[in-house]
Amino acid sequence: MTRYTGLIERYRKRLPVTANTRLISLGEGNTPLIQLHNIPKLIGKDVTIYVKFEGLNPTGSFKDRGMTMAVTKAVEAGSQAIICASTGNTSASAAAYAVRAGIKAFVLIPEGKIALGKLAQTLMYDAKIIQINGNFDRGMALVKEVAELAPVTIVNSINPYRIEGQKTAAFEIIDELGYPPDFHCLPVGNAGNITAYWKGYKEYSTYSQGQDAVCRGRPVMCGYQAAGAAPFVQGAMVDNPETIATAIRIGHPQSWDLAWTAQQESGGWFDKFTDEQILAAQKMLSQHEGVFCEPASATSLAGALHDISTGKIPEGSVIVCTLTGNGIKDPEIAMQQCADAKPVTIDASLDQVKKAILDSL
Ligand code: F0G
Repeated sequence: MTRYTGLIERYRKRLPVTANTRLISLGEGNTPLIQLHNIPKLIGKDVTIYVKFEGLNPTGSFKDRGMTMAVTKAVEAGSQAIICASTGNTSASAAAYAVRAGIKAFVLIPEGKIALGKLAQTLMYDAKIIQINGNFDRGMALVKEVAELAPVTIVNSINPYRIEGQKTAAFEIIDELGYPPDFHCLPVGNAGNITAYWKGYKEYSTYSQGQDAVCRGRPVMCGYQAAGAAPFVQGAMVDNPETIATAIRIGHPQSWDLAWTAQQESGGWFDKFTDEQILAAQKMLSQHEGVFCEPASATSLAGALHDISTGKIPEGSVIVCTLTGNGIKDPEIAMQQCADAKPVTIDASLDQVKKAILDSL
């Protein structure tokens, strides 16, 4: 048996590394593709839905796929420091891979607007955290400017190596299913991930373009946003994005043109969902399938369920929803979601435990 050592090793031939490249890896990728069994029954539709659970990457989000490549290439180029703006997951990932590589990480985050678990991780990984009294978009603009003045490599998804790493998620899906799904649904924030999946599907598709819809070898890409942060749905940048799904609280996506290309070439669409719809999908997934993702991630399922119910995604379809991050990252939202489900407190006696069980059967 060959030991799994990370996605660069696995897809080496399709990634920009040489035999001499020192790989900076934490064993990322190879995440489970979980078929939903209960939700399709619950909605009474004949659809096959898989979730690609990216929350099981080493730092708990899909960012690790891009970060292993970006940091590997930064180190190869002799960089001593990396920098990113982040809504939380990129910063955690950058910090971890920087430590692994023995270089420094600077992260700009919007003060008070990143989930507790992400902040805790980033602190533990010993990054230099710079909080700003502005949102992600402002942080991104500052990062681009400061990288002109200081010796730091940007590891946001405007770094093309991030996209290279992230495209491997599409490879894994095709490798596992043996074919691409009919529809691929994912949350869209800065729009790097939809760009990366589309690149991956195009590079890996076994059928040539121009075949009929069923076996053309590429999925329809469905990009879903939070209603208060939906520039792709509005067709214009949003200046004051707001959503409880802080990971995608972004109004000026950097991969604007590339995401539109993914939508157009795949025949896909963008849509938006309210915080209530997003939270309902997060809870549904936890309570009916045992899969706990963070709020932003559940936007993919909220969108898929909506489009299945309207028939935009027809019955008989195979659908993959990317769950971009782990639910444990945002314990505060989880506790709010379950405010009515307070644990019972009892005496530590056999009788009381027995009673507590019998009472709830
Ligand atoms: N889901 C999660 C959990 C995210 O953290 C992000 C982006 C997205 C979806 C959207 O992906 O930006 O490629 O369209 N988080 C970035 C960050 C912005 O800083 O962690 P995208």
